[in-house]
Amino acid sequence: MPQFDDAELTAAVIRSFGEVPDPRVKFLVEELVKSLHDYVRKTDLTFDEWGYAIDFLTRTGQKCTSTRQEFILLSDVLGVSMLVDAVNHRQRNGATETTVLGPFYVGEHKPMPHGTDISAKLPGERMFVQSRVTDLEGKLLAGVPVDVWHADNDGYYDSQRPDYETTGPSSRARFITDAEGKFFFRTILPCSYPIPTDGPVGEMILQTRRHPMRPAHVHFLVNAKGYEPLITHLFMDGDKYLDSDVVFGVKDDLISKIEKRTDATMPDGKPAKSPWHLMTYEFHMKPGAGAGAAPQALGVRPSEAA
Ligand code: BEZ
Ligand code: FE
Repeated sequence: MPQFDDAELTAAVIRSFGEVPDPRVKFLVEELVKSLHDYVRKTDLTFDEWGYAIDFLTRTGQKCTSTRQEFILLSDVLGVSMLVDAVNHRQRNGATETTVLGPFYVGEHKPMPHGTDISAKLPGERMFVQSRVTDLEGKLLAGVPVDVWHADNDGYYDSQRPDYETTGPSSRARFITDAEGKFFFRTILPCSYPIPTDGPVGEMILQTRRHPMRPAHVHFLVNAKGYEPLITHLFMDGDKYLDSDVVFGVKDDLISKIEKRTDATMPDGKPAKSPWHLMTYEFHMKPGAGAGAAPQALGVRPSEAA
């Protein structure tokens, strides 16, 4: 009957995984055991503390539903989502920076004509978004699906509303780039908003004296055939939470200057109610294996694509 002291125990657990057939899985499991054991040794973790952690993780799982993923939120607020993003996008070579997908992507969006007001029924300051998609040499990419989504003036995504199934999408659409790689649409100026605080993750944020806010942003998922799928946001310059995003998702290159305009028409020549805001941005795509595929094939969590 083997007996182990606390150091030998780690080696014994690692040996117990010695027959794992896939070398990558074996490596991941071994490193996980090492990191967890190191944590317990370093902190002299008490039974009460370990019990608290298990209760917290249990409540995190219990909060998950087909439309709510509390574990992803936990990964986001602990910076793990952005770290996974960072280690997988080390060499951008001029490609647009990436950031977290977030829990409010609901799968493939409905294609809409350029210029559509995707927030037509919502109150808020009006914004015109104009953009182009190119490769790293500046070649314009036509026919590229671009999914966009953002929060409303109260800081909620359409999918958070209890009547979402019946009222359908708002502030959410897909545009297909034209022959010059362009797409454009109307919407409202998004505002900063808190991540959900009615679960264990929000509880942790508030109890640890962090704030739950994300700076205002619009999400983009650009999925061109032959290029890496680009999951990113554009943040509104000047937002007071840019330096303290609760999910650590801000990158300088993703902060977009928003111009306040008083012209009587918007860039597509249609009348505008003054004042309005103009967001202009160009996305640069890195060559890769994107196939204009369904979101599930992009590594989007199935519960979000429901
Ligand atoms: C979001 O941007 O929608 C988001 C991202 C991470 C956690 C919560 C919300
Ligand atoms: Fe968001």
